[in-house]
Amino acid sequence: MKTRVLKVDRERPDPAAIEEAAQALRDGKLVVFPTETVYGLGAHALDPGAVQKIFDAKERPATDPLIVHLAHIGQVNQIAIGMPAGARKLALSFWAGPLTLILKKKPEVPDLVTAGLPNVAVRVPSHRVARALMEMAGLPIAAPSANRFSRPSPTTAAHVLEDLDGRVDLILDGGATDIGLESTIVDFSVDPPVLRRPGGITFEQVHSLVPEVIVQTGQATSNEPQASPGQLIRHYAPRAPLTLFEGAPAAVVERIAADARTAVAQGSRVGILAPEDDLKALAPLIAAAAAAGKIEVRPYGSRFDVDRAARELFSSIRAIDATGVDVILASSIGNDGLARAIRDRLVRAAEGRVKSV
Ligand code: TXA
Ligand code: MG
Repeated sequence: MKTRVLKVDRERPDPAAIEEAAQALRDGKLVVFPTETVYGLGAHALDPGAVQKIFDAKERPATDPLIVHLAHIGQVNQIAIGMPAGARKLALSFWAGPLTLILKKKPEVPDLVTAGLPNVAVRVPSHRVARALMEMAGLPIAAPSANRFSRPSPTTAAHVLEDLDGRVDLILDGGATDIGLESTIVDFSVDPPVLRRPGGITFEQVHSLVPEVIVQTGQATSNEPQASPGQLIRHYAPRAPLTLFEGAPAAVVERIAADARTAVAQGSRVGILAPEDDLKALAPLIAAAAAAGKIEVRPYGSRFDVDRAARELFSSIRAIDATGVDVILASSIGNDGLARAIRDRLVRAAEGRVKSV
């Protein structure tokens, strides 16, 4: 298959390009499109043949269910049964936007979309290109992140091409995505509702409207029960093993520098992924090894600009891994607000290798 890339203006997408993509979706083809969080790999959600192609293109196991994207909140009742009061509050406050709600599914939704579960994940994205596409197609769109299985989610069309060139029909290239991390998932199929994945809407924002919400994100390091099938699955794993360091910034910097020098002395090439403030403090401590090409560093945003850190995280994980280093040492930037979602992705990438210093 030849993959076509159509550039579209993110604010005023060309109707001809959107119509071409909408027709492809109606025909059961795969269309990659930008959302405010990350790029999505879309197919007609009510066409099992089209949905199957998503799993094939991503090499994603059929046990991992998909989010159904809608143009308007009024369409929820086409795919879900009922909406608990808390879900309604969140939807009215944060849709269109980076929030996914898990609700009871209607029989019309193919089992393939929900991995056989009686529940369906629903989201109304705010990105103009995504909205124009759904309005023009007049369809609910099933879409996971448009990466190959276990790669970081794509925040640019170039990332999508790295993973899916020749595996999808069309990519709408609307430039880099705004948020850079996936949507927040809140599960209303259980009582009390459960935050399954922190994302673009913060836990604090959810909690202020739905105080009974509990957190259960099923990370590799926790011993919480694994109620959500998707959370069992390996995520965002770079090729090189990644270790996450947490604690006071100065102590983290000292420890990363010490571990990096030790690894270099043992013959490894080391990658360091950290906010730019940490990298600035690190520079004099690792200058010799960096000059000798034994240490590669890639920044993601800044401790003082969490939005930018979120926007740059996945791109920087891809970049550091592409340098071919043997190990990656990373620092996170706390656990409040959007930093909670950043930490969640880094803990998953670390597959449990988390060190408190
Ligand atoms: O921001 C986002 O949410 C992006 C954009 C494209 O919308 N999409 C995305 O999809 O991140 P994906 O498939 O990469 O992640 C969706 C997560 C998976 O971990 C999946 O297991 C979970 O949502 N999920 C989907 N349906 C579910 C269900 N019925 N019950 C429990 N978890 C579900
Ligand atoms: Mg994904």
